[in-house]
Amino acid sequence: MKKGLTTLLISSLLAFSLNAADKKADMDHRTMLMKDMRSMLDAMEQIQRGGLYSSSDDMKLGVKKLQGTLKILESEEIKFILPKDQVYAYKFAQKSASMLRLYSDDMITSIDAGRMDDALEDYTQLLKQCTSCHIRIRNW
Ligand code: HEC
Repeated sequence: MKKGLTTLLISSLLAFSLNAADKKADMDHRTMLMKDMRSMLDAMEQIQRGGLYSSSDDMKLGVKKLQGTLKILESEEIKFILPKDQVYAYKFAQKSASMLRLYSDDMITSIDAGRMDDALEDYTQLLKQCTSCHIRIRNW
């Protein structure tokens, strides 16, 4: 009887610490993803600054930086910050990532061709991907 109780106690302690470890892993993932989100913001700012100072090099560096963050947006990892009860949220993230890829590739083409009006249009489309996900997530 006593032995049974000890086993029970140990296993529930174990379950508790496992649960705590899970929570910590969740938090670590979340912290990292939020860092990626801030990198995306940095990238967008760099593109914008480049555009305002007519520096195509800066714009392109920003685009490269943004493209470097897209793998995360496409991966299962992103689920850590998406609403858990929405299967659609993950599909939406993948779709956003592919749109970001499309418009950022197009932006490079536009910059190289010296078509700044097209590059600006691409920027608007990029920003739209960010805001539409953020707005959706708050409504979900
Ligand atoms: C598929 C959805 C999705 C897309 C696309 C997306 N984000 Fe986010 N973003 C999120 C989620 C989810 C959060 C966290 C919201 C929360 O729980 O507070 C977030 C948070 C942020 C934050 C706040 C980070 C912090 O430290 O608090 C910034 C900045 C940000 N995103 C920038 C961007 C930028 C810039 C883009 C576009 C280039 C973008 N995001 C695209 C889902 C997205």
